[in-house]
Order: sequence, then C-alpha cells, then structure tokens
Amino acid sequence: MATILKGKDILDVKDLKLEHLSLIMETATRFENVMASGGRLNNMDGRVLATLFFEPSTQTRLTFETAMLKLGGHVVSVTDASSSAIKGETLFDTGKMIDGYADLAVIRHMRIGSSRELADGAAVPVINGGDGSGQHPTQALMDLITIQKEKGRLNNLTVTIAGDLKNSRTAHSLAWLLGKYGPRFYFVSTAELRMPEEITRALRMDLIEVFETTNLNEAALKSDVLYMTRIQKERFSDEAEYKRLKGTYIVNKELVEQSKPGITIMHPLPRVDEITREVDDYEGAAYFRQAANGVPIRMAIIALITGRE
Ligand code: NCD
Repeated sequence: MATILKGKDILDVKDLKLEHLSLIMETATRFENVMASGGRLNNMDGRVLATLFFEPSTQTRLTFETAMLKLGGHVVSVTDASSSAIKGETLFDTGKMIDGYADLAVIRHMRIGSSRELADGAAVPVINGGDGSGQHPTQALMDLITIQKEKGRLNNLTVTIAGDLKNSRTAHSLAWLLGKYGPRFYFVSTAELRMPEEITRALRMDLIEVFETTNLNEAALKSDVLYMTRIQKERFSDEAEYKRLKGTYIVNKELVEQSKPGITIMHPLPRVDEITREVDDYEGAAYFRQAANGVPIRMAIIALITGRE
C-alpha cells in the first residue's frame, strides 16, 4: 500500500485516487504525531529537494523547505531572477539537469502545464507547486486535512468556494478532490470569475450537487465550510477590470454572524482584503491552522513519492 505513490509525480489532482489521498493524510498525521511528541525524523537523510519558484510564494516554498528539513533532508532553490530560464533554458532541460543533483523537485510557474514539462525531462519525482491558473494539488491536500481536522469528516459536507473561481488554482484543485467525498457545493463568484465549466460539468456528471450563485450570504448560511479566495490580480490583463471586481465579496464579522453556526472559514493565503482582520478571532477561522497543516502534508508527499515514508 505504502508504495502506491513511490516514484510518482504529483502534477494533477485528477491523477489522485481516494487511496492516495488517504495514504497522504495518514502519513501526515503519523509524522505530525512524531513531531508533537518531540521525536525527530530522518527519512530524507542525505537527500536533496530542489525548489524552483518562477512565481511569488511565501507559504508554499517555506512549507516545502521546512518539510524537507524536518525530514532530515537538504534544500536547494532558485527563484525567477536567478534561474537559467531567463537565458532561455526549457523546463524539459531544467528537469534533465535536476536529475544530476536532486532527489525530487517542486516547481511553481506562471504557465499551465509547466510542471509536466519539467517532469517530462526529469527522472526524479516532480511536484506541481502551482501552475498559473491551473492547479495546486498539494494545497488541496492541505485543505482536505484541514477540513478533516476541523469538521471531523470529509463526507457529506456543504462547502462554499468563493471569490476568483476562474483563476484560483487552489479552488480548482480543491473542487476536484473534495468532489470525491460527496459534498454539496456552492460556487460563489461574479459572472466573470465563474468556476471553469470543465470542473462543474465533471462534478455534476458524478452526481455532485453544484449551485453556482452570486450570493455569498445565502451560500454561507447553508455551508459547513466557506473557502474564500483572493482575486488573482496577476492573471488580469486589464487593471481596471481587477479593480472593478476586487472587493465584491468580503468576509467580515457580520457575514460570519449571519452564516451557518459553527461555519469553518478557510483561505489558502495570502489574503488581501477579502477576509477582514476581525474575523481572525472567530474560533472557526481556520486559515492559519490550514497554513500550518502544509508542513506535515508536504512531509508526507515528499516521503511517499521518494519511497522513504
Ligand atoms: C495560493 C496560490 O499561490 O495559488 N497561495 C498558496 O499557495 N498558498 C493562493 C493565492 O495566491 O491566492
């Protein structure tokens, strides 16, 4: 069982089956328990993770690097300005090169499908750390384990995903994965920023109830979880359009008070102004706990795909 992810790339949530998700979450919980009881792990002793970040990131890069260090491994990293991509190197060639010194790699890039290009070149496992407005599989896994911890289950939940559903790769990946657990979805956005039809159609084919609406209050009143996203400024070619749409949905104290009692509020971070600071004190505000779950989840993924769990 533990070997089902060995040698695999983590590029697209559509490749992940329920058994993979369970294994990753179980492994993350095991690692978390070891660390909580003061234990140390050395699964990745002497191994090297390469992090290639061609787009900004704080949380994803820090949690991947922390995860590797907590497994006793080492990290080498490049960010956009310092990489040979500037000189015209293809991701395929970068992948070939990485084989020479790293045991696995994580890439974030502005282009959809970029992680697959790297993986085509690299023999070592590659993780998609966010490809443009495509996907962000490891974030979705953090999100799943967060929902499991906060709600005590993943099945039969009513979940609102709100904000920039067109461009948020975290929303795309979470919708695909959570869809495996029989949720009821409310997708809340303006008409311009709706969830890609490929996703809503696939969910409905699987008999998942999906309601698309512009009314956040109504959706929050019925939801166990509200997953808020940032309007993805970097994906807009027209600054005026961004400014017009930004601020359409704000999660504030009043909205939380009028939501379903006990609602869990999530956000992949960074937030701009779509959740006000006062909401942080609400006990169901889970976004910083969600961020912390990134370390054990990424530890589990690193260990499993390298066969060192
Ligand atoms: C997200 C991302 O990069 O897609 N951030 C993250 O990885 N935690 C969300 C965002 O940038 O809005």
